[in-house]
Amino acid sequence: MTGKAKLAGVMGWPIGHSRSPRLHGYWLAQYGIDGAYVPLAVAPDRAEQAIRALPALGFRGCNVTVPLKEIAFRTVDLLDPVARRMGAVNTIVVDEDGALVGGNTDGFGFLENVKAGCPDWSAERGPAVVVGAGGAARAVVVALLDAGAPEVRLINRTAARAEELAADLGADPGAGLGSDPATTGRVTVVDWVSRETALDGAGLLVNTTTQGMAGQPPLDLRLDALPVSALVNDIVYAPLETPLLAAARARGNPVVDGIGMLLHQARPGFQAWFGVEPQVTPDLTRFVLEG
Ligand code: ATR
Repeated sequence: MTGKAKLAGVMGWPIGHSRSPRLHGYWLAQYGIDGAYVPLAVAPDRAEQAIRALPALGFRGCNVTVPLKEIAFRTVDLLDPVARRMGAVNTIVVDEDGALVGGNTDGFGFLENVKAGCPDWSAERGPAVVVGAGGAARAVVVALLDAGAPEVRLINRTAARAEELAADLGADPGAGLGSDPATTGRVTVVDWVSRETALDGAGLLVNTTTQGMAGQPPLDLRLDALPVSALVNDIVYAPLETPLLAAARARGNPVVDGIGMLLHQARPGFQAWFGVEPQVTPDLTRFVLEG
């Protein structure tokens, strides 16, 4: 690295577990770029200050992870349309005027991962079922709607959160976050008690909850009603083969694991900061998982 190194990083609290420095570090080395991508441990009460300091420090931008994505959303100078609909920012780019531009690439990462893992799948083909109603679910739902899913069925333990997400994304124009007449009526909520009924005729099932993560119980969802042609994706990637994916694979469904979402969501930021369009390869996947 020289004194002219291009600077970026990932801001979160805590940040020690983040695989993003390893991921970007791999690409910087692979493409021979004079740059650095560093972990930035920033407590929530100092996040606004830290984000505003990026241009003064010479940073080209940064990624933002939990629990700072909503603070980043409120702090940046400009929002791209996708981040505006998601209410959260995971990628900040400092533009040529020194302004902070907020984007959100989580939905892009989700969709690129699913398309790369199952090239035959297309969002238009049938209803998608999304389990969960947190920030990750919001990114997945926006991506599916933008990709032309005819219907997105939300199931979540706490019905109120799913209702809120559906209302946000199907609201009247001008009503606020996510307003888009084209999505009205395409997001429906199925009660947790009758959640298995949502699987009937679905073309995609995505778990966005923490269930199935190492140390957590498996997602409590019987797959009997899911067509065997439906693609099953878990955004959990530790372990790679979650109980949900194992159950889906055993009954013959195509499956895509979650690591690719992390890798693909990183591509737009890397390209903006370092000027090279990076590739997701099997070697990269192995390298990131080993870390
Ligand atoms: P993120 O922003 O990463 O998506 P989150 O906002 O904490 O994280 O959301 C976690 C998701 O996992 C939620 O949909 C949550 O359901 P609730 O809205 O009912 O809390 C879901 N989740 C967590 N523990 C769960 C459990 N034991 N059973 C079912 N769903 C669970």
